[in-house]
Amino acid sequence: MGATTYRDYSLTGPEASRSIERGLADAEWYQTPIDSGTRARLHARTNGRAAFDAMLWVALLAGTALLAWSVRDSWWAIPAFAIYGALYGGSADSRWHEYGHSTAFRSEWANSLLYYPASFMLMREPTVWRWSHVRHHSDTIVVGRDPEIVFPRPFAIGTWIGNMLGLFAVPQMLRRIARHARGTLDADVASYVPVDKHHNVVREARLYLAILAAVILWCVVATSIFPLLFIGLPSFYGFWLVLFFGTTQHVGLREDVLDHRLNSRTVYMNPIFRFLYLNMNYHVEHHMYPTVPYRNMAALHAEIRSDLPEPTPSTVAAYREIFRAVRAQQTDPAFELDRVMPEGSGSVASTHAEAVVGEDGWVSVCPADELDLGEIRRLDTAGATYAVCRTRDGSLHAVDGICTHSRIAHLADGAVVGDEIECPKHNGRFALATGEPTRDPVTKAVKVYQTVEESGEVRVHIPSLDAREERAVQ
Ligand code: FES
Repeated sequence: MGATTYRDYSLTGPEASRSIERGLADAEWYQTPIDSGTRARLHARTNGRAAFDAMLWVALLAGTALLAWSVRDSWWAIPAFAIYGALYGGSADSRWHEYGHSTAFRSEWANSLLYYPASFMLMREPTVWRWSHVRHHSDTIVVGRDPEIVFPRPFAIGTWIGNMLGLFAVPQMLRRIARHARGTLDADVASYVPVDKHHNVVREARLYLAILAAVILWCVVATSIFPLLFIGLPSFYGFWLVLFFGTTQHVGLREDVLDHRLNSRTVYMNPIFRFLYLNMNYHVEHHMYPTVPYRNMAALHAEIRSDLPEPTPSTVAAYREIFRAVRAQQTDPAFELDRVMPEGSGSVASTHAEAVVGEDGWVSVCPADELDLGEIRRLDTAGATYAVCRTRDGSLHAVDGICTHSRIAHLADGAVVGDEIECPKHNGRFALATGEPTRDPVTKAVKVYQTVEESGEVRVHIPSLDAREERAVQ
């Protein structure tokens, strides 16, 4: 990229330690409260819709590939490959994203299965980008912390135009893949990928290079460029679509704030864009509630809209605003777009209440008929917090309320997925029966508590006060 930036956007420079000193790293972010019943409805996962959308995408890819092949000797090959490239190297981005969050399919194996090919189509190393995205959600647009600030200030217009064909971004990723294949991790990457995952990074980089080498060999044997035009090069010539949507997410908005309403942009887009982009145009909403599947983003938006700044009315309006900010940043890199908060915003009441533990250690959470399938209630008692939930097959569970990963998220704000509870911050999961971690990035278990339905009430057994105090809210 090369251009001089007005701040040090690396993850190992002075801004990294400064952001920690300023309390911006792994901090608590503003989240518009939603009642537990609505949260359960918004968090509902299914396989059917995700499978339909995935099959439609694959069918479009296969169809445009066939079309491009059939017209390969004519000028029609140019638009045919352009459409194929946009689907391959462009719309794979939102698939990679949704499968990485595990919010597309209810079944984790289906999300994982598709996460890897989508990563390859973008030349993104699966482990590196899984963890970089965890950090992006922890420290969104915090300079020195967020590895996914793709537009450092001042915005480099020449680089942006070159990247319409992936000319800077993709070679940069390929160079990093080559370094990782040699066993040398970038310092930035090593700062957010856990040490026990480093061997995965090296293995995946070698696999990528092996696949690319095989495609190049195929070209040599066939004395044709076409194998690379179908596998590999679309990551370049389809990159414009990643850029087209990605630019609308955060560009021009504020750095170093702990409120996604100030650093992310929600843009109303047409149904075709929303299919290609899997509803990530609702970007404020996604950052506030990364556990909500893409298919429910419009409903989430409707639910919290009164607490958000005015959404950008169209893609054209978003670019108009972005160009205004980018132009201003050429002379004043500190320029940021302001967001006007609605009256009374930030004061939406949270719904959880303090409960009292009885002499026998049991505490009433709520009437049984008020805890629906898939719903989670937060229970605060004696200085500790718990998440009490009912799975979609009806069983009751209670676990410690604070996620063990970065200890900034209440599990009650997350989702019940099968017999697991999912953290609202980075989609880490715990088995409800045992409290054991079942999905990265969590590695440490939460405690589980006996839960019953008795006399029309949901009741949880909390152990002795001493033990409770040890789990006091951080
Ligand atoms: S805080 Fe990261 S998964 Fe819970």
